[in-house]
Amino acid sequence: MKKVGVAILGLGVVGGGTYQILTEHREFYQKTQNVDIVVENVLELRKERALALGVPENKIATNIQEICSNPDVDIVIEVMGGVEPAKTFVLSALNAGKSVVTSNKELFCKYSYELEKAARKNNCGLFFEASCVGGVPVIRALLDNLQGNKILSMMGIINGTTNYILTKMSNEGSSYEEVLKEAQKLGYAEANPTADVEGYDAAYKLSILSSLAFHTKIPFSKIYREGITGITAEDINYGKQLGYVLKLLAIGKNTEDGIEVRVHPTYIKAGHPLASVNDSYNAVYITGDSVEDVMLYGRGAGALPTGSAIVGDVIYCATHPNFRYSTFKNTEGADPATKFIDNFKSAYYIRLDAHDKAGVLAKVSSIFSRHNISVAQMIQEDTCSKDGRVPLIFITHTTKEKSVNKAVEDINASDVANVVSVIRVVS
Ligand code: HSE
Repeated sequence: MKKVGVAILGLGVVGGGTYQILTEHREFYQKTQNVDIVVENVLELRKERALALGVPENKIATNIQEICSNPDVDIVIEVMGGVEPAKTFVLSALNAGKSVVTSNKELFCKYSYELEKAARKNNCGLFFEASCVGGVPVIRALLDNLQGNKILSMMGIINGTTNYILTKMSNEGSSYEEVLKEAQKLGYAEANPTADVEGYDAAYKLSILSSLAFHTKIPFSKIYREGITGITAEDINYGKQLGYVLKLLAIGKNTEDGIEVRVHPTYIKAGHPLASVNDSYNAVYITGDSVEDVMLYGRGAGALPTGSAIVGDVIYCATHPNFRYSTFKNTEGADPATKFIDNFKSAYYIRLDAHDKAGVLAKVSSIFSRHNISVAQMIQEDTCSKDGRVPLIFITHTTKEKSVNKAVEDINASDVANVVSVIRVVS
């Protein structure tokens, strides 16, 4: 039976889960895959953590060179996160002729061109299923099963922390700050939540996924990004009244006019399949020209779900003689021939804090009309605050982003209302 040695760089949550799956399933893979996958090394500076997971002491390496020079290691699993030292370690492994499996979305998003170049040069595999959407097998679906399609669009809930926060805010009517604090206490959100709540994590993943889906390099810098820190319980509630659920969506579209890629809070109709993706669950909704709609749903994070994606890659690498790489020219920046759309079209939710007096609606309507914005739905609450102000909520028909920006400027410059929030709506 073929024997394949692996090394795991980092025994954090995901590294620990990966070690557990590989060791507990070793005999199962011998039977089902006809391959004996052996953990030959781990690189973990907290020796007690490695020992507690059951790693034999003689397998704990203290530096990357020990792993790169170990002839029994065929595949290096990088689960450290962050750019450095992960990038140096991955390049060292590839240059030493080891294939690499990584879960590192930031590294892969920013440096896949450099990593892929090294992998090709050394005839090694480079696998990254675990970098996007944890245990949900979306990368291989795009690389293999959906290759027959021109992918027209994808929409995803690809960050579990923000989905957990928005679900709780929606269910309990609590504020963003309250739910974030609770999520941090329970370990769902990081002590420094910026990468998740400001949409960076989702944007890294969208860069990777949309490059694969649309067969052209989509650098992180091309992605419009907006997080959930400005979302209020009021907006979630007004959205509900209008039949919408609020999610942090990653959206990629491949249109005749070009590609648009964006991450921002978005209202979707309560009946849309993505609307029922709750708590820390993730899902990606892909539309192809032949397959039509496909939705992949599951755990986007966690020791065993992400470990499942990593081990899937390890088995694939161990059992396939030829490696495949990107289906596009993997350069550092975007291909100059690819057109990106920043003035994209969407429907919008616009909440105003308005004077409650005659002529206000007429003035707001005239501003909308000046910018060619047509209103589809509206709520005016008949409760007026002490200072004579009232919330006005509009849902527009599909319009252009820049038209809405200009209308918002004009409304704020008027003496009748202030714009409190603008949230895009999937129409
Ligand atoms: N922090 C991510 C999330 C998981 O909340 O979904 C890893 O990408």
